Amino acid sequence: MLSLEEGYTLEDLFHETVDLPAFPPVLTQLQQLLSRPSTTMEDVARLVETEPALAARVLRLVNSPLYRSRAGGELTDLYRAVTLVGTGEIQTLATASFAVSAFATMPGNVVDMQRFWRHSVYTGLLAAVLGRLGWVSFQGNLFVAGLLHDIGALLIYQRLPEWAAQCIAESERSELPLDAVERDIIGFDHAMAGAALLRHWDLPQPLVAAAEHHHRDPAQPPVPPVAAVVRLANAMADSLSDAAAAGYPAAATARMWEAACLDSGLATEALAQADDRLEGVETVLLG
Ligand SMILES: [Fe+2]
Ligand SMILES: [Fe+2]
Repeated sequence: MLSLEEGYTLEDLFHETVDLPAFPPVLTQLQQLLSRPSTTMEDVARLVETEPALAARVLRLVNSPLYRSRAGGELTDLYRAVTLVGTGEIQTLATASFAVSAFATMPGNVVDMQRFWRHSVYTGLLAAVLGRLGWVSFQGNLFVAGLLHDIGALLIYQRLPEWAAQCIAESERSELPLDAVERDIIGFDHAMAGAALLRHWDLPQPLVAAAEHHHRDPAQPPVPPVAAVVRLANAMADSLSDAAAAGYPAAATARMWEAACLDSGLATEALAQADDRLEGVETVLLG
């Protein structure tokens, strides 16, 4: 086990000797396929079908409350699912389901995984609902951007469990934000680790930015729109009792609403809609 004195850098999290969850070849192929303009929806459906477990997960997501308003009845055919949600969104859903399964279990008891994923799913749902209510484009990715915003924390729990536990305890004791405590104790925070991981997996820049900036002070220079919505959704999710993933909870501020270009009057409706979908989407992703 590493000691605090040894000095550990963000790059060490990605050292080649560390067995980082490998990005599945099918997702790399999917990325390549989607980068070609000639690719059809059928090509995408056919590729996803080559991985039955992935195909089943994607179909369950498309049939989940995430897309309740769009699907007329239950979809059992992948081609129809791709037609309904679009090829880009299928890719992000497939990626999200991989990311969740990559960190399904965690050694030790550093963190309550059920609480962690509930917070992540809820943040994703809130981001998607806020996006829809506020007419922000990029809705599908807003869910995934919210879902993966704290993924760096899992990397830290997995690689540096003792430091992670120390950071969480210190954040709760001092009532200082977890990211600040992590920078102080470890030298980098879970937002930086998450952004590095998502970049390492070659995921779209808005997802990287959402993880990177979700604890950024809104008084500081502006962050990209998706990141501003996820920052707000994270703070809203945190402010619900017992909903924070770990550490001292954030609070949604007027500045965060402003930065996301959203009206704070949407809060009640957004929370109600996210509450309504939480269980269904959680069951599909984590069940
Ligand atoms: Fe966080
Ligand atoms: Fe969070």
